[in-house]
Amino acid sequence: MDINKFVAPEIIFGLGAISQAGESLQRLGARKAFVVTDKGVIKSRWVEKALFHLDQARVEYEVWSDLTTNPKDVELKAGVERYLSSGCDAVMAVGGGSPIDVAKAIAVIATNGGLIHDYEGINKITKPLPPMVILPTTAGSGSEVSQFAIIVDTKRKVKMTIISKSLVPDIALVDPVMLQTKDARLTAATGMDALSHAVESYVSLAATPLTDIFALNAIKLITDNLSESVACSTNLKAKESMAMASLQAGLAFSNAILGITHAMTHQIDGLLDSHHGETNAILLPYTMEYNLIANADRFCNIAQALGEDVAGLSKWKAAEKAVQGMRRLVKNIGLPKRLSDIGLDSTVIEKLAQNALKDSCLITNPRDTNLKDIIAIYRKAL
Ligand SMILES: [Fe+2]
Repeated sequence: MDINKFVAPEIIFGLGAISQAGESLQRLGARKAFVVTDKGVIKSRWVEKALFHLDQARVEYEVWSDLTTNPKDVELKAGVERYLSSGCDAVMAVGGGSPIDVAKAIAVIATNGGLIHDYEGINKITKPLPPMVILPTTAGSGSEVSQFAIIVDTKRKVKMTIISKSLVPDIALVDPVMLQTKDARLTAATGMDALSHAVESYVSLAATPLTDIFALNAIKLITDNLSESVACSTNLKAKESMAMASLQAGLAFSNAILGITHAMTHQIDGLLDSHHGETNAILLPYTMEYNLIANADRFCNIAQALGEDVAGLSKWKAAEKAVQGMRRLVKNIGLPKRLSDIGLDSTVIEKLAQNALKDSCLITNPRDTNLKDIIAIYRKAL
């Protein structure tokens, strides 16, 4: 067997996990936490609830929320200055993938200096980061456990992928109750992001027996619970399963990395400021179709995890069922099905494909690819 490693933070999971926020920071030696969040999360009162527990543990804090979805390089400077001037010695994120990734980026620049662009790619961070505690409010990004941060380069209009073990948070506090304030569309989109993490990591060239367990189980959990979670915001059983699925998909992709779907999605999100999960949901059936010849056995397993009946089918027919199962799931939860539905037009496809070829996520895609193939996938999905 090849040598492989698996990295993960301490994970505290369950209803009421938010109550551990103060104690978690205290255990990491924090005196004052820099709390990164966004306006929507503040409105839903999760920040207020988390801060109550920081008060209880006598941990001071500074709250900062000047960021947007698909967080941008130009938003980081103010956050870093505020972190450094406020005397904070730890970082806490409360929110979805955007606040979490911004919290990670601020932690990187605060201790390593320079610009976030300097760390694009794999293993560029050399100095330790401040302690990080993460409270996710969406079941999707998996950033609470991952060694990834994604930030938009506003000049190039692309998403930069930063991958480093240093970005794995110290403690992830996953409280399914916090998922109840998401609307149906965000629930659907973030759920599809988690599913794309699970599928891409399961067929990744860097998949290991450890990542396989989490990836395949996450696909099953999402198949069984995403529709219910979208349909009813107070269905706690479905929320709990989706929180677990997102966590497991996060552990899988953090260690097995991703593939062509994310390499292509990052370019569209960077250009259109579209929702990452929606873009993944549109592209995934097409990228699965493309990758199928690279590992049909694994796509058979994905088809079964998606609830497809593959009894008596040949390997190839069974593998094709994975694509059909994915299309059905996307249709059930009412997400857009074509790239033109989210505002993409054909004139930018060649440029997007050139940028996708440079994305770090492509390194672990199971099928060798090229500019012509990526252009063809974008066109099919348009
Ligand atoms: Fe993603």
